[in-house]
Amino acid sequence: FMTVGHKIPMLGLDNAFDEPALREFHRRTQRGTGLESIDYACELKIDGLAVSLQYEEGILIRGSTRGDGFTGEDITHNIKTIRQLPLRLPEKKTIELRGEVYISRDDFERVNRLRRETGEGPFANPRNAAAGSVRQLDPRIAAGRRLKIFLYGLGEHDLDVKSHMEILDYLVSLKLPVNPHRELCRGIDQVRAYCHRWQEERLHLPYEIDGVVVKVNRLEMQDLLGHTARSPRWAIAFKYAPEEASTRVKDIVVS
Ligand code: IVH
Repeated sequence: FMTVGHKIPMLGLDNAFDEPALREFHRRTQRGTGLESIDYACELKIDGLAVSLQYEEGILIRGSTRGDGFTGEDITHNIKTIRQLPLRLPEKKTIELRGEVYISRDDFERVNRLRRETGEGPFANPRNAAAGSVRQLDPRIAAGRRLKIFLYGLGEHDLDVKSHMEILDYLVSLKLPVNPHRELCRGIDQVRAYCHRWQEERLHLPYEIDGVVVKVNRLEMQDLLGHTARSPRWAIAFKYAPEEASTRVKDIVVS
């Protein structure tokens, strides 16, 4: 694969594994902004693979992986197999979009069934299946995996926008796939309720999530908070414990 440099680094997210850590994030945000009440944009954290998409004058010209955050791999040939992604936008816009490529639970089962039939080892989880698929040299293999995508943000752009929710609404207006379960939460108690609700409801989703992403909604406040070398100070991932299952060992063959 050719390498692609990210002019704006693709950062990761800090994690909060429990409620006290979420409240600590809120207190830090209050201190950093000097604001008492803060609006957060809450989104599902899709368990897939981060990608960047470059549209030039409305035409999809490149798709790349996150890689180390500064340099990724050119996966345009596979990105173009994602049927939800328009090759041409309704506007002649030059814009970099960011999102998560994933594979649905149904397609994951189907792909693994096929792999077992052909003697290939099954993928351990949908994330590995998505990651393995975008790194195929032959786009026909990626097409057969029926990859999907949710867009959740921007890289380089010239939009005049004031909030994260406004960005997502703009992407929807371009007929791009944005997760429908996003919500504007006014204050940390509403964020807490959102996180708890999705802990249960995630089991009914047709794709896997591993948490919720909580983002300060106002872009002015995001700029004020800035970022560390690894992650923005204006966002956090509230992570759910991974699903657990038991395995019965039926036999051991000593050799
Ligand atoms: S925002 C600077 N939103 O989570 C903030 N990330 O652990 C960039 N992810 O690398 C990320 N769903 O691959 C964001 N709704 C969402 C997401 C999301 C999944 C992934 C993304 C990122 C990783 C961070």
